[in-house]
Amino acid sequence: MKAKLEQIKSEALAQINNAATLEELNEVRVNVLGKKGALTAVLKSMKDVAPEDRPKVGQMVNETREEIEGVLEETIKKMEKAKREAKMKEEVIDVTLPAKKQIKGHRHPNTIAMEEVERIFIGMGYEVVEGPEVETDYYNFEALNIPADHPAKDEQDTFYISGDILLRTQTSGTQVHVMEEGKLPIRMIAPGRVFRSDEVDATHSPSFHQIEGLVIDKKITFADLKGTLAEFAKELFGEETKVKFRPHHFNFTEPSAEMDVSCFKCGGSGCRFCKGSGWIEILGCGMVHPNVLRMSNIDPEKYSGFAFGMGLERIALLKYEIDDMRLLYENDIRFLRQF
Ligand code: DAH
Repeated sequence: MKAKLEQIKSEALAQINNAATLEELNEVRVNVLGKKGALTAVLKSMKDVAPEDRPKVGQMVNETREEIEGVLEETIKKMEKAKREAKMKEEVIDVTLPAKKQIKGHRHPNTIAMEEVERIFIGMGYEVVEGPEVETDYYNFEALNIPADHPAKDEQDTFYISGDILLRTQTSGTQVHVMEEGKLPIRMIAPGRVFRSDEVDATHSPSFHQIEGLVIDKKITFADLKGTLAEFAKELFGEETKVKFRPHHFNFTEPSAEMDVSCFKCGGSGCRFCKGSGWIEILGCGMVHPNVLRMSNIDPEKYSGFAFGMGLERIALLKYEIDDMRLLYENDIRFLRQF
């Protein structure tokens, strides 16, 4: 019996010694100390031992078990420690490495220009409103004094969703939405996306942005229009900026004009930037046509107003001296990062 126990012990210790993983050690535990293990088998065979020898044999079995358990526990502890240390070494953080750069996004030049325009008009007491990009023919043309078959429609062909529903060609329709609400006076700007059947080139895109403006109150005159837009131009392009109004035609305003600003590059003497003229065209404007007021239930005998509309991309291109509109849409990060 003693020899048998010695054999079990030395085999177990050899196995423990050879075990390379915690799993293998656990296997040794099961095989030797477990319910069906070698040592348990010895205990089970006690009935064959003479009763007077049993306490002694029992003690020997226990001693063997304790010895094996002791070595096993110690080996497990050692192995766990080694494993922990290896893991810690592996996961070590080198605090001297350079930190990862946080790449922060920033606003698109269109957005910067739009917020600049908004800031200026908000400062003059204007409200910023939004109109729908999908419009009816009524808001985009009819209510702006552009009746069916009017030649003005030729210049603003667009995508028709049905005979009557279209992608808006101008933000001017938002004027009508605001006037229809019936709250007077009105002082608003309406930035937004517009669409036209245009080929892409350096100055055209089938989708671009406009900023519309509308003021309606009692006794509004062309002088208010001039004063407001002259002030706007100074804020946007610099204190020395001069403005010039050229007569023009828009169906929804009478009289109508286009406004030029003195070239902020050469100060008006003429350069490559302003194509030698000293002036840069910037927006369309005029006094709101009585027909337009009437269609939106405003009495032209009591109220008058002015309106204006400008291309947002044009402002961004001028402000940042970019010579090709396509750059604003390509979204090449190397380009956008500069603003
Ligand atoms: N909607 C015009 C366009 O797209 C721009 C414009 C001109 C708007 C005169 C106005 C305005 O409100 O009064 O060409």
